[in-house]
Amino acid sequence: MTTTITICDTCKLQGWDAETQSQTDGERLASQIEKAAEGVGSVQTRRHSCLMGCSHGCNVAIQSDGKLTYVMGNFEPSSDAAEGIVKYASKHAESEIGQVPFREWPQAIKGHFVSRIPTLSSSK
Ligand code: FES
Repeated sequence: MTTTITICDTCKLQGWDAETQSQTDGERLASQIEKAAEGVGSVQTRRHSCLMGCSHGCNVAIQSDGKLTYVMGNFEPSSDAAEGIVKYASKHAESEIGQVPFREWPQAIKGHFVSRIPTLSSSK
């Protein structure tokens, strides 16, 4: 089953300046994640403006029907972060309930979890 990475495209890190920067930090991270996810069949991406975690951007959510949802934040818009997020999402896709064992977490996502949201389904 496919896992979706929802990326906040309006996150701005401290020091972001509209006068000098044409893209938000969220847009930059989204571009990096979209690039990292190219060719990864089990992962799709989408952008969304504001996940209501503005004080700890950049933020993403990892979601799939009937599975645990994870929200992560405090990311820099870097290729390392993007690759870690996509790798984690591909492991989320492989898991029946969306739970990835700690030993399989990419280093880049450690310390970035904000919340875990259970499925609404009562069967999982
Ligand atoms: S602007 Fe990204 S969470 Fe609000």
